[in-house]
Amino acid sequence: MEMQALPHGPLEGEARPPGDKSISHRALMLAALAVGENRIEGLLEGEDVLATAGALRALGVPLERRGPGAWTVHGVGVGGLAEPDTVLDLGNAGTGVRLLMGILAGHPFTSFLSGDASLRRRPMARVAEPLRAMGAAVLARSGDRLPAAITGTSRLLPITWRSKVASAQVKSAILLAGLHAPGETTVIEPLASRDHTERMLAGMGAVVRTAPAEGGGVAVTVVGQVELLPQSFTVPADPSSAAFPAVAAAARPGSRIRLLGVGLNPSRTGAYTTLSEMGARIEILERGLAGGEEVGTLLIEGAELAAVDVPAERAPSMIDEYPVLFVAAALARGRSRFRGLGELRVKESDRLAVMAEGLAASGVRCWIEGDDLWVEGGDRPAGGARIDARLDHRIAMSFLVLGGLAKQGVRVAGAETIATSFPGFADLMNGLGARIGTLPEEGLG
Ligand code: S3P
Repeated sequence: MEMQALPHGPLEGEARPPGDKSISHRALMLAALAVGENRIEGLLEGEDVLATAGALRALGVPLERRGPGAWTVHGVGVGGLAEPDTVLDLGNAGTGVRLLMGILAGHPFTSFLSGDASLRRRPMARVAEPLRAMGAAVLARSGDRLPAAITGTSRLLPITWRSKVASAQVKSAILLAGLHAPGETTVIEPLASRDHTERMLAGMGAVVRTAPAEGGGVAVTVVGQVELLPQSFTVPADPSSAAFPAVAAAARPGSRIRLLGVGLNPSRTGAYTTLSEMGARIEILERGLAGGEEVGTLLIEGAELAAVDVPAERAPSMIDEYPVLFVAAALARGRSRFRGLGELRVKESDRLAVMAEGLAASGVRCWIEGDDLWVEGGDRPAGGARIDARLDHRIAMSFLVLGGLAKQGVRVAGAETIATSFPGFADLMNGLGARIGTLPEEGLG
């Protein structure tokens, strides 16, 4: 499907972005591991999360959808999943497959896992290696890529694992495996990544500790073999999805929008810190708590943005927002530098290369230096490009935001990938004044 974004004027109005993707995956999986009936409200019903729901169903977990975003999960308890009789297809979802591998490591049967062409290219060794160290057998293609088979064990060993990357998926996979092992399992990461798994596990009665690690980094420990209490989960709106309308409004003077119920967990808000440093006018109203997570309404007013230098240490707290922040930088006066972007190369696409290429095609001067990206911003970019989304929802949405702010608009081929994380993206944006539409099939060339 090809979409087009035409230049728009100032945005105004209010909207609630869809449920948080990270928390939605975790709510389904953790509910499955509790004993008894769990209820979830505000679940993201994007393709990624539905793939996780489908995999859990294939593993013998009864799940029901009661209404929009309202689900009931009958948890089968830690170690209670059943051998699936088919390949588990996690589609585009890195979080889905990696967290599930952690859970499957504690089950004494073999599961076969695969996904779409994007997921099959992504590195799984970062999860497979610690799970092997705990006693699971993982067989996969070269580089530990999918498809993979995992044979778990009911005698999983607790470990202490030092991860080279700050990754909540790696950390969560090991902690979820650790739930099935006796004693304490610890993950040390170089910088703290998002902590939804820890918060949710603690809320379900597990013992989870976070502390500075000896020799540097952050250590998270879980005590295994607990009974998890069933929950009522409330999923906040996704701050990563909110970043698309936020940038579209922040970079267009005269805009004034409110984004409702957005998750404001400090491990997720680096993009808003960065936008504020660029001179964006962002206020947080109606702060509250939902499901153990900070939430609030973001009031965003358009302004002339200025260039920014983003430190590498901020990467974990804005890892998914870089693509759309590069778009903000293209509209900001001066030369922006984003440091330490190595992890962007292994997302749904190589986001560093794909963004740099697409920005250049849209008339934005930018260049990669090692793991850093420089963006020369200023006047409205020319636009006029036709971008291939490469099975990457955030590439598609970032360039549709750019199209709205550019002189000429932008076309995005393969825009159906947006449904993985943000169903209703075009409607939400258009409700605020954007001009995003689907081009007829004949338009494909
Ligand atoms: C996620 C962690 C991040 C993020 C992804 C969701 C999660 O990935 O990019 O979209 O839900 O744990 P990494 O763990 O690879 O950094």
